[in-house]
Parts: sequence; structure tokens; C-alpha cells
Amino acid sequence: IQPLRLGIAGLGTVGVGVVRIVQEHAALLTARTGRAVSITAVSARSRNRDRGVDLSGYGWEDDPVTLARREDVDLFVELMGGSDGPAKAATEAALAAGKPVVTANKAMLALHGQALAELAEANDAALRFEAAVAGGIPVVKTLVEGLAGNAITRVSGVMNGTCNYILTRMESSGLPYADVFKEADALGYLEADPNLDVGGIDAGHKLAILSAIAFGTQVDFDGVQLQGIERVSIDDIHRARDMGYRIKLLGEARITAAGVEQSMRPTLVPADSPLGQLEGGTNMVVIEGDAVGQIVLRGAGAGEGPTASAVMGDVCDIARGFTLPPFGQPAATLTKPVRANAATE
Ligand code: HSE
Repeated sequence: IQPLRLGIAGLGTVGVGVVRIVQEHAALLTARTGRAVSITAVSARSRNRDRGVDLSGYGWEDDPVTLARREDVDLFVELMGGSDGPAKAATEAALAAGKPVVTANKAMLALHGQALAELAEANDAALRFEAAVAGGIPVVKTLVEGLAGNAITRVSGVMNGTCNYILTRMESSGLPYADVFKEADALGYLEADPNLDVGGIDAGHKLAILSAIAFGTQVDFDGVQLQGIERVSIDDIHRARDMGYRIKLLGEARITAAGVEQSMRPTLVPADSPLGQLEGGTNMVVIEGDAVGQIVLRGAGAGEGPTASAVMGDVCDIARGFTLPPFGQPAATLTKPVRANAATE
């Protein structure tokens, strides 16, 4: 039986988490997939940083594109981030070579998902991205596989842990937005560009990806009505609480008679509902299907272990030989969504 040899580009929190799982769960991964999962080589911005894992047994590439093309790399794992630039170039290089790719890159998929899915299918290469949406929660798998027999009518939820942390912390501490934002920054919760979090863009990327899978449409990030949490005041939060509500950065994608409606914005939710009880950095995704009814998925939306868990789920699927189109149906059959609502700004 052929081993599955990974090339991992990006050794931040998630990359290190993936290395750790490969090292610590070698026997378990082999038992579950029937193959030895190993790491051939890695790539990152700085070579000599101590990351708390032993990388000495692996090759090194400065250029992720070279890593993606290496003969001894069977599966390219893209954990660099950024919608364009090296992440996209290396992903394209791997797919063009007929090599499967596992990525956690929500921005890249939200902006280029259709083109990448077409490239993957043209080259008979798998492209999987469970870790791109809601961290450790297997929501892509749930939609693509478990709920394949349903017409999906609505996908909603809290998909950015940092915003949920900021909003719940404002409520519990009574501190204003600016102070809690600084706290979140000090705790390392914010994306390199914080506007991706607090502007609702990161969560919008995730919603656009889920919406495409749910409704069989091409990813339409520009169609998401977006509003961030920057203008939510402590008074808003207290007033909401007095009325029995909490404010969440809530995403919603649904099919209406007029077309697909996607929004991501601060929303009042009943305090005693599952969404209203969501604390800190947790994510929650609610899916409604015509046959199944409502499914609620809840868990860690970010962090080393949870996100690496999602990456490894995809790695194991590929090791097992599962071939599914990236968005659950052939890219050519994904239709351009009719927008029920005009995008703002
Ligand atoms: N910034 C993201 C969040 C990380 O806070 O949810 C996970 O995508």
C-alpha cells in the first residue's frame, strides 16, 4: 500500500497543529485509512523559528510552488492564508499537476472557489477545505455528504469566533468596544488584518462558501450583505439584554422566491436560544433541509487543535481515495446565483 506523503506550506498555528497530529497519531491514521501518512517537506516564511515541534526529519522549501510540485509530495496542504499570492499560486501548481490539495484558506475559496474547483476537476485532483469554514466543526462534510439527500433551505450561524468573543466580553465586562478590541489583539485572536474579523469579511467568506454548497450555486462573496461589529456599542448590548436578546454577528443564507439572499451582520437573537447562549470564541452553524429539518452544529471555530482536526479529516478522506467534487457537485453544474438582495456598498 502506498504511503501518503504530505507537503505542508505554512507553519503557523494550524500548520504546527497538523504536524503534531501526523506525528502523534501515526498509528491511528494508518488504522483508519490503510495508509501511512507522512510529511515529506514543509515551507514557511521563516525557517529557523522555534515552533515547538520537531521538523528536523522533513525537507524544506522556501517556495511553496516548488513544494507543491515536488515528485515526493502526493498531497499539498495549503495553510498560508491570503486570497491571492503564493497560496493561490501553489494551490494552482499542485492542482495543475493533478495533485490533491487540502486548504484552510477561506478568503481564497470565497474569491476564487469556482476557478479552483474547475481546475481541480479538469486535472482529476481533489480539493478539500473543511478547515476553511467554522474551524473544527465538520460543516462542509455535513452539507456535502450527510445532507446530500436534502434540498437545503437555509444556512445560518456565528462563523467568526473573534467577533463572538468581543461581543460576549463587552457584555460580561461592561468595557467598550475599543478596549475589548485591544484585549482580543493582545490575546492574539485577531487576523493579521483585523478588519477581516471585525468588518465581518472573514465570516462573510465562510458564509459564501457554505451558501454555494447548500444551494448548488457559484460562490458569490460580493452578494453577501456585510456589516461588521465596529459600531456595536455597549449601550446596544445592554439594551438588547434588557429585552431578552443578545447581539451576534449572524450570517444567514437562504433561498427565497426572488433568489439567494446572503447576509452577515450584527443581529438580535433571543438570549435563551442556542445561538443566544453561544459564548466566547465558539462557532455555531444551523442548517435547515427539507427532509432532515434543522441541524445545529457547535464547536471551536479556530485554534490549533480544532482547525488541524478539520485539515486531517480531509487528509484522511483523500488517503482513503474519496473523490468528491469540491462543492459537492461538478463545478460546471454550479449556477450563477440570482441575488434576492442587492449587495450593500
Ligand atoms: N479569525 C477567525 C475567527 C479564525 O475568529 O473565527 C478562524 O477562521
